[in-house]
Amino acid sequence: MEIREKENRQVKVKVSHLTKKFGDLLVLNDISFDVEKGDLLCVVGPTGCGKTTFLNSLTKIYDVTSGEILLDGHPADPKKDHIAYIFQGNSTMPWLTVEQNVAFGLDIRHVPKREKQELTDRYLEIVGLTKYRRYYPKQLSASMLQRVSIARAFATEPELLLMDEPYGQLDIELRFKLEDELVRLWEMTGTTVIFITHNIEEAVYLGEHIMVLTNKPTTVKETMRNPLPRPRDIAAPEFVRLRERVTDLIRWW
Ligand SMILES: Nc1ncnc2c1ncn2[C@@H]1O[C@H](COP(=O)(O)OP(=O)(O)OP(=O)(O)O)[C@@H](O)[C@H]1O
Ligand SMILES: [Mg+2]
Repeated sequence: MEIREKENRQVKVKVSHLTKKFGDLLVLNDISFDVEKGDLLCVVGPTGCGKTTFLNSLTKIYDVTSGEILLDGHPADPKKDHIAYIFQGNSTMPWLTVEQNVAFGLDIRHVPKREKQELTDRYLEIVGLTKYRRYYPKQLSASMLQRVSIARAFATEPELLLMDEPYGQLDIELRFKLEDELVRLWEMTGTTVIFITHNIEEAVYLGEHIMVLTNKPTTVKETMRNPLPRPRDIAAPEFVRLRERVTDLIRWW
């Protein structure tokens, strides 16, 4: 615990004056913020404000218009830095089995065979998919598909995990289950996580910090620390108060 608190003061991701335009459309408007090492940052913002654009800028899928994103003090580079990205929607590969999907990130990183098998087995077990290891994605439910993506991301033990509304399509019970699983994995590994969501309750349930974005042209409205102890209770008065505070910050409608 002490170690995590100490680590928390280190900056893992530093976003400085980030601006992104698509032609004349100004999306991200001079955005600056830090993400602490070991943080679980939830980013909440309206549709089309540029949440995915931010992740795509961090991973260099898009070039930025101006500003920079630093990881441990150097420009973030997915070719060198160990970043895992769980995209919006299903990102499993249909031609690979569950096991091969989980091992995929390890193949790319040329992890030796034995270690690859150990990590794959371990994360299949953690997300409860050991029994389904020989199945193909088309034989799985939506929540199982998300578990495959989560196991694949965590198996590579990334230094930074980016999650883009990973549970948006799921029903509420499955969402709760996978949220708890994420918290467990995050606590276990100490990985820095940036988790994008539309869902205020989800942000308050998961986040160590919650960052609220504005409508386009997008800036950071507020970033707050979430002091609620875990496991969190969505019906507790402190939880409801914080959820209302975040809701008050949001005037998207
Ligand atoms: N490649 C692109 N070319 C042109 N415009 C783009 C491109 N990608 C995104 N945009 C525009 O940038 C804005 C931000 O899009 P983005 O997908 O980042 O939003 P978002 O916050 O992730 O939305 P959602 O919550 O719906 O996922 C939108 O207006 C979108 O139309
Ligand atoms: Mg998006």
